[in-house]
Amino acid sequence: MQKEFEWLLKEKYNNKPTRNFYKDVGRLKAGEPLDYVIGFTEFLRCKIDLSKKPLIPRPETEYWVGEVIKEIKKENHSSRGSSGQNLRILDMFAGSGCIGLAVLKNIKNSEVDFTDKAKNCLEQIKINLKINKIKSGSYAIIQSDIFDSVKDKYDYIFANPPYIAIKRRNKIQKSVLKFEPKTALFGGSDGLFYIRKFLKNAKKHLNESGEIFMELDFVQKNEIEGLTKKYKYKKYEFWKDQFGKYRCLVCG
Ligand SMILES: C[S@@+](CC[C@H](N)C(=O)[O-])C[C@H]1O[C@@H](n2cnc3c(N)ncnc32)[C@H](O)[C@@H]1O
Repeated sequence: MQKEFEWLLKEKYNNKPTRNFYKDVGRLKAGEPLDYVIGFTEFLRCKIDLSKKPLIPRPETEYWVGEVIKEIKKENHSSRGSSGQNLRILDMFAGSGCIGLAVLKNIKNSEVDFTDKAKNCLEQIKINLKINKIKSGSYAIIQSDIFDSVKDKYDYIFANPPYIAIKRRNKIQKSVLKFEPKTALFGGSDGLFYIRKFLKNAKKHLNESGEIFMELDFVQKNEIEGLTKKYKYKKYEFWKDQFGKYRCLVCG
């Protein structure tokens, strides 16, 4: 905990322990995650404000999104980029907007539609677009229950759905359960409630040769493989995270 206090003092209080610092120490002692207390985090060189309390972006997400961005940049150089066309990208279940923001910051000719069902997340995304100086015209924010209000087709769809199985609830850290939004965490009894709906509909929203990148819990790999077959995706593969666990489905 001492390390967290030091980090808080440095990041938020410029090493000056004011009265508010001691209040924040109390929040940390009560178990509130450090990123909420500091008020922001970093994600692939973007500053992510967390004042509206979306899910705190995770290092595993940052890892696979970073890998995908590298791949898209390679592809972009060799084909689409040269035609001068903008890449149309959807960040579904966007939360803080960390994924779409990283895409906008790192891929030159990208346009991102951010969607989430939760109003606080839509407000959070607006704040984060402003903080990261993203130019208007390169994004849209859409309130949508999965694909209900999404009309367009995309070159790439990114998704980090709520995917924790309720039966695995006891594996989750107490502070996560107490402070982070449950609607961002749980995906029904087997964790696949949103993933099923997402994979069933995502194909209709892909351009020719478009691709989906979706985060998962490694224990769901076999069932998700089954879903990609059921919904007739032509190709799929699973990528591992920095800890060697399957974390991302790539399909199209
Ligand atoms: C796991 S969080 C992902 C947040 C962010 N993309 C990230 O990677 O940190 C899942 C998000 O899905 C949103 N969500 C939950 N149910 C939804 C639904 N039915 N339709 C759209 N979004 C939903 C939650 O509000 C939450 O922001």
